[in-house]
Amino acid sequence: MANILDGKATAAAVRDELKERVDRLREAGTVPRLVVLLVGEDPASQVYVRNKGKAARKIGIDGETLELPATISQTELEARVRELGDDPSVHGILVQLPLPKGLDEERVVRCIPPSKDVDGLHPVNVGDLARGTPAFAPCTPAGCVELLVRHGVEIAGRHVVIVGRSNLVGRPLASLLLLKGARGDASTTVCHSRSRNLADIVRQGDIVVAAVGRPNTITADMVRPGAVVVDVGINRIDDPSAKGGSRLVGDVDYDAVADVASWITPVPGGVGPMTIAMLLANTVQAAEAHAGSALVRS
Ligand code: GUN
Repeated sequence: MANILDGKATAAAVRDELKERVDRLREAGTVPRLVVLLVGEDPASQVYVRNKGKAARKIGIDGETLELPATISQTELEARVRELGDDPSVHGILVQLPLPKGLDEERVVRCIPPSKDVDGLHPVNVGDLARGTPAFAPCTPAGCVELLVRHGVEIAGRHVVIVGRSNLVGRPLASLLLLKGARGDASTTVCHSRSRNLADIVRQGDIVVAAVGRPNTITADMVRPGAVVVDVGINRIDDPSAKGGSRLVGDVDYDAVADVASWITPVPGGVGPMTIAMLLANTVQAAEAHAGSALVRS
């Protein structure tokens, strides 16, 4: 039976460390401020955004949500993002994705100043990460790495097979794992919906990361005995026996895979809480940079 990569406990430890840095910033006169833009009324996004604001406020970050109607125009949305970019009291800006139909995410993300892009999605930050000199790493990939490191799972020299090539997870995770140093130095393979022989490739992974958004994509026969399995998926499935008639599952067939893996993340309580913790870490980093980190970290 696999050991659990406990995202809930690990995220709590990260938040405790961040709270100390927030306290020091506040003593030095800077209140870290994060603004999350939520456009439209997607119920899942509403929950994610609420959780982000709550977690921020719990450690002393001024976490705000700016709720905008799905009918907002591209021009108006870009203007709102630029306004926040120009506001010196705002250290971090996050535009919750996906945006409602008709709005161009790429163009909106490009309106965030890279120094406030705590989501790490601006092309400047993506490029810096890909070239090996990261400023802000996207929160979910950073959370996966932090979770492994804090459980003592070795990454360097091992083969990580990532299933999913999204800009939010798969691609930036490969970039992070290729960085030099103990948190990187991995051999990486990125698979996707057009990959041939997916099962054969996944079986070669010392570490397997599933980031597809489809339940049961990774089954036990695809996992080498003793491999480490990180499940990024969050899927709501019908379950008449569950409270409310549905429950959350990842992309991994959890019960069967847990029998063969050495480590596995639960869903919920695995990568999810780590994503939020990394968002807070990026926000604190942005505020420290703004305040002059030499002053507050000495
Ligand atoms: N939607 C799902 N995950 C994320 C994320 O990490 N950042 C943003 N901006 N939107 C998301």
